[in-house]
Amino acid sequence: MKLKIAVLPGDGIGPEISEQGVGVIKAIAQKFGHEVSFKDALCGAAAIDAVGDPFPAETLKICQEADAVFFSAVGDPRFDNNPSATVRPEQGLLAMRKQLGLFANIRPVQTFRCLLHHSPLRSDLIEGADFICIRELTGGMYFGEKFESDERAYDTNLYTRPEVERILRVAYDYARRRRKHLTVVDKANVLASSRLWRKVAKEIEVEYPDVQTDYMFVDNASMRMIAEPRFFDVMVTENTFGDILTDEGSCISGSMGLLPSASTGTGTPVFEPVHGSWPQARGKNIANPLAQILSAAMLFEHFSLKEEGMLIRRAVDQSLEQGIRTPEIQTPDGAHYGTKEVGAWIVDYISQA
Ligand code: IPM
Ligand code: MN
Repeated sequence: MKLKIAVLPGDGIGPEISEQGVGVIKAIAQKFGHEVSFKDALCGAAAIDAVGDPFPAETLKICQEADAVFFSAVGDPRFDNNPSATVRPEQGLLAMRKQLGLFANIRPVQTFRCLLHHSPLRSDLIEGADFICIRELTGGMYFGEKFESDERAYDTNLYTRPEVERILRVAYDYARRRRKHLTVVDKANVLASSRLWRKVAKEIEVEYPDVQTDYMFVDNASMRMIAEPRFFDVMVTENTFGDILTDEGSCISGSMGLLPSASTGTGTPVFEPVHGSWPQARGKNIANPLAQILSAAMLFEHFSLKEEGMLIRRAVDQSLEQGIRTPEIQTPDGAHYGTKEVGAWIVDYISQA
């Protein structure tokens, strides 16, 4: 297969993990005889510094002309600590999602056998947990009308029926291919936007009689996720709730550095880790490249290249089993492996497979 990939390394640890992910994609391409080409593009603080715009038109064009975007992370403390900044790196990521029409963010949460004891949660609770959070990505508060003054500020959590319906259908399609259990997460006891979600979901659930649909308030869901994570198969929720719940999900896997994601919709799909840019770790060769590498697996799987995805997953499992781990998940007596060493080990494993 021929694949054109736009590579957006972004900020902080982004460039380091991107390099490892690209290395893995190249190793897979070599192994399976795919013709993959890469084009780098600027985004986030790196783009603000270079051209004054966190998602420049040139970057949009490169993304639109590609078959897939391989994104890493954006964010920079220079902007976080400056409430009066008018342009922020995160706006680049939001603009990319909006302009590419990526309304469905697929965030799988799973456990790794050898990391069960690494989770802050009891291993008997999380063992076997395996669910997908489908986060609506281009609506809600992140994009609704905003107002900000020194005395008042608001964000608008606006959703329309078609926006809700299309994300629910994506979620039902996933549920059908899995254990046929969908949990719609909302706050319908308080929020009007959530009541629309629930109304639309009630209407369309009858079209999916083979799927069991549950409705759960987000506060309850956040508790249930860590008290009984095996309850969930597919959950679907609005932008803000999905952002928060998926960070919580990383406690089940054992590290933020393990969660990949795919964002799909009408334009070029994006494959990116769930974690952010971790600026404090930048250049230290300590960031875990696995979320980025697993995002590469999701990229191949998106194009129905299942064996390619499986080989990446096997390589990741093996690296963890054999203790080739970055410091945040390493055992006390384990050797030191950095971002580069973990990436190189996985590339080697793939080449020799
Ligand atoms: C994520 C991130 C982004 C989001 C930020 C960086 C804008 O936290 O992908 O989860 O909130 O969507
Ligand atoms: Mn987030």
